[in-house]
Amino acid sequence: MKIKWFKTIDSTNNRIALDKEELPDKTVYMTDFQTAGKGQRGNGWESAKAENLLFSILLKPADILAENQFIISQAVTLGIVGYVRSKGIEAKIKWPNDIYVGDKKICGILIENAVNGDKLVSSIVGIGFNLNQLSFSPSIPNPVSLSALTDVSYDLKDELLSLLHFIFEEYDKRSEQTEERYVSTLYRLGRPHSYIHTASGATFTGTILGVDKTARVIIDTDEGQKAFAFKEIQYII
Ligand code: BTN
Repeated sequence: MKIKWFKTIDSTNNRIALDKEELPDKTVYMTDFQTAGKGQRGNGWESAKAENLLFSILLKPADILAENQFIISQAVTLGIVGYVRSKGIEAKIKWPNDIYVGDKKICGILIENAVNGDKLVSSIVGIGFNLNQLSFSPSIPNPVSLSALTDVSYDLKDELLSLLHFIFEEYDKRSEQTEERYVSTLYRLGRPHSYIHTASGATFTGTILGVDKTARVIIDTDEGQKAFAFKEIQYII
């Protein structure tokens, strides 16, 4: 594993994507500050300077088929949950790849995969983990940091190394159990909650049962079991 640490860049995902042809598997780009941090759904990612972990991991797995690319998301989220739990804090995975403590988001992940034919060629796993930041812009929904939960101020380098250790351990041991463990760690698994159907705007009640191979979430609704892709539903929290 090789780590390159920038003071300020636009986005670790963008920078590692530019350099990826020459970089080996498991290269990490970390920064104190991003001027154009990217989030999911076309959103940005805001983070106070040198308070949080902002990094991207380049993966070049030799053995993952394009159709199985969801395993990366599962391994990475389980690694992050393991890290948070090592601090004595219970964490869950909000499908597909946010990390929640209670009803608050401690970590967001943006995965950008490159596929060639039926093979996954590379995966850029961008992680924004709220470590020390205590006050957030009101525009950010439900944020929390590890420091706010534990009342400890953390060293960025020590925590980056520890978090990477948990992530790579899960990534290296990925197997059929990874999906089972991912499902059993899902936020709101097995209990009825409210969701919004994005296209219609309608609210419905349903119970998360699991996921399928294509990363859709399976929800038991009044109209039977349905599978939803990312962006097709929103959680009401
Ligand atoms: C989300 O919206 O929840 C995903 C946020 C991902 C943010 C991280 S910060 C490091 C990496 N570089 C980016 O531009 N985005 C990801």
